[in-house]
Amino acid sequence: MDWTVPQDFTGYTPAEHDVWRTLYARQRKILPGLACGAYLDGLDKLDLSAGIPDFENLSARLHALTGWRVVAVPGLVPDAVFFEHLANRRFPAGRFIRTPDQLDYLQEPDIFHDVFGHVPMLTDPIFADYMQAYGKGGMRALGLGSLQNLARLYWYTVEFGLLQTPDGLRIYGAGIVSSFTESRYALENPTPLRLAFSLPRVMRTPYVIDDVQKIYFVVPSLQTLLDVTVQTDFAPLYATLATAPDIPIGDLLPEDVPA
Ligand code: PHE
Ligand code: FE
Repeated sequence: MDWTVPQDFTGYTPAEHDVWRTLYARQRKILPGLACGAYLDGLDKLDLSAGIPDFENLSARLHALTGWRVVAVPGLVPDAVFFEHLANRRFPAGRFIRTPDQLDYLQEPDIFHDVFGHVPMLTDPIFADYMQAYGKGGMRALGLGSLQNLARLYWYTVEFGLLQTPDGLRIYGAGIVSSFTESRYALENPTPLRLAFSLPRVMRTPYVIDDVQKIYFVVPSLQTLLDVTVQTDFAPLYATLATAPDIPIGDLLPEDVPA
């Protein structure tokens, strides 16, 4: 049982395709200069402007680029199922789309967040490998009882990660690129902390799910993110972190390096 369901692509209404097009046009307009090159290139390659994408068709294009596919799931799936999909280069995406009165905010990830937010980065070979490695690492963390620490890594990279580039900070996190307000806020607002990425630091930092982030972590490159996470054995790290206190969100430590 892998929790996948048919997308039922022909079941979407014209109004639902309109919601997609509205969200797409709004983000596409503001993201140049905010999102990283890998994301913007991926978005253009996938050509998602016409309406809610058909996963069959989308998967064929994505598979040709990096060997990933998109599969439909009913909503959040059990952790082990989620990791198993990622470890096999399948991205589980929700099928439903938000209503017109939820354009700016909704609690559960919908197809716009899952596809527009996540799938363009999966066209990047390095990020594609990172996501697969994360899936394998997830299965290991489950066995070691350290899921909370690993989930924070996902949150502060895949969902809310920032990237240092020669042109300045750019977004690669799906939670940011799919949000009209946070895509500017994450880069331009002076309030949140922006710290250089550190694996133990990220794993000790809780997160908020119902507001813009108070802290972002910046990687020097996607290759560095992949190298550091793949080359580090997380088991001893988890063991150390099991007795280390969480760092309250927003606290700045003496060893923190502002980005
Ligand atoms: N290296 C990690 C481990 O030992 C696995 C991992 C790789 C986790 C990449 C996340 C991202 O568990
Ligand atoms: Fe997400």
